Amino acid sequence: MRKRVAVVILVLLQSALTYGGNAETLPQEYWRHPLAPQGEAPKDWSAEEKSLRPQECGLCHADKLAEWRTSLHAKAFSPGLVGQLLTFDSEDVHSCLNCHAPLAEQKQAFDAARAAGKGHLPTAQGLAAQGNSCGGCHLRNHRRFGPPQRDGGAVGVSPADGSHGGVTRSRDFERSDFCAACHQFPQDMAINGKPLENTMVEWQASPAGRNGQSCQSCHMPDRRHLWRGIHDPAMVAAGVTAQFSAETGFARFRLTNTATGHAFPTYVTPKVMLKAVGLDENGAVIPGSAREHVIQRRVAFIDGDWIERFDSRLPPGQSAGLDMPWPASGRVRFWLEVHPDDFYDHDVYDGLLRDLPKSSAAARLIAEADAQARRNRFTLFEREVTRP
Ligand code: HEC
Ligand code: HEC
Ligand code: HEC
Ligand code: HEC
Ligand code: HEC
Repeated sequence: MRKRVAVVILVLLQSALTYGGNAETLPQEYWRHPLAPQGEAPKDWSAEEKSLRPQECGLCHADKLAEWRTSLHAKAFSPGLVGQLLTFDSEDVHSCLNCHAPLAEQKQAFDAARAAGKGHLPTAQGLAAQGNSCGGCHLRNHRRFGPPQRDGGAVGVSPADGSHGGVTRSRDFERSDFCAACHQFPQDMAINGKPLENTMVEWQASPAGRNGQSCQSCHMPDRRHLWRGIHDPAMVAAGVTAQFSAETGFARFRLTNTATGHAFPTYVTPKVMLKAVGLDENGAVIPGSAREHVIQRRVAFIDGDWIERFDSRLPPGQSAGLDMPWPASGRVRFWLEVHPDDFYDHDVYDGLLRDLPKSSAAARLIAEADAQARRNRFTLFEREVTRP
């Protein structure tokens, strides 16, 4: 009996949360994967209001559409993803799409394209091709959710006579937890104590986390939908500080994580290298003089288990260094090399390219992703240091 009362209370509580009411917090299940289908849109809405496509949102929110298009969230339904999806069963496909194309309608669209033998064609993928788009973050049951109103900070439900029946505004959009649904794995998936995605936990332990400086404040300045990260040279340069010095016996390159609100870098995918070569009197590289220091969390999947080989990433405030003994010329060149997709490039794509039938659509997509991963590499902070 007591149990039944508890169940009833729980159900009531859940429906109150689902409804949202005037509460300024988002419904508890807002980010529970898989997301529920939107259902029928109100009959009196225009086709633009009913649409789940970012292009239609952009008719009235042009700035957001333009910014989002430049971001990796817009490119999350990528060749590297789809090339793998084509080799998976439907259940595994859906688990990937929870983060890469989260709406139920996107899963349906991809399933339909695949059933028609056209899963590899962006023109056939429909809404799925839009990746992590407006609807995944802003739409539940055709209702728009967003942050407190820009002018005045109003929260809660706005009058229903506005476009798309108004909006429910919540401070949760300004909180880091909003991003955790896709950027933090649970602790029970830890490898050597840390899940493969541990950004939220790293952030909580950082000065930024302690000062309440949210993910959004760095990745969506002034609410701009940019989400720059390790693929963007300017963002990386803003997050770390490079120092060069001429010491008595050697030249030194130090890199410090000064403004990245989590480990630099946070994921297992990038590889960052401090590099040095000695130069001769004419400025030519001295053969065999190259040195490097690797910053990376290196993991491997072996016999069905993940293992960590090493973790040399820089938590906030920490530094890495590379010393180079002076060559006779007293000239040393340093630089930082960033390979944002190193793990996919070597551990995932190379294996798939070996195993997949050469002319298959999946192999073509993975080859495209592999080439893109190589193009994504860049260098920063190139500098020559000379002996005084
Ligand atoms: C026909 C024009 C129109 C379309 C199409 C449209 N919106 Fe809106 N949107 C508005 C207007 C007008 C407001 C302000 C509503 C209010 O104050 O009640 C708004 C408000 C919002 C807000 C809250 C911002 C604020 O004012 O605080 C979000 C978030 C939002 N829309 C998301 C979307 C998404 C996502 C889509 C596409 C799925 C979309 N909108 C499509 C006109 C539109
Ligand atoms: C629905 C899942 C989802 C949510 C919610 C989400 N992200 Fe992402 N995010 C992704 C995926 C997937 C990618 C990788 C896209 C790709 O390259 O395929 C990504 C990429 C990024 C990147 C680019 C990383 C790089 O390598 O340069 C940044 C930065 C980022 N997200 C920040 C955020 C922030 C901040 C929030 C919260 C406001 C957030 N994300 C919310 C799924 C999500
Ligand atoms: C919990 C959310 C989440 C899930 C589930 C997820 N991913 Fe991702 N994925 C991300 C984020 C965040 C990134 C960007 C950071 C990175 O590179 O690790 C990413 C990046 C990628 C990339 C490299 C960027 C690109 O788009 O080319 C590939 C490929 C990828 N994921 C494939 C998959 C596949 C295949 C699955 C299912 C087996 C999957 N992901 C499941 C969050 C997720
Ligand atoms: C990965 C999640 C995510 C995606 C995808 C996304 N948004 Fe947002 N959006 C947010 C967050 C979080 C905020 C609030 C940021 C803050 O308060 O710092 C926001 C804010 C907004 C606002 C309010 C802006 C303001 O100035 O008050 C609008 C309007 C909006 N988004 C529309 C869109 C549209 C249109 C798209 C697609 C083109 C889109 N969003 C894609 C997460 C997302
Ligand atoms: C103090 C500013 C700051 C805060 C706060 C912050 N980031 Fe970052 N983030 C950066 C900088 C700078 C980079 C580029 C350097 C790098 O990749 O580590 C970055 C990179 C990333 C990347 C790229 C992938 C990678 O391996 O580095 C993702 C994803 C990301 N951040 C997500 C988040 C999420 C989610 C949060 C909140 C839990 C967050 N960030 C909080 C500054 C910040």
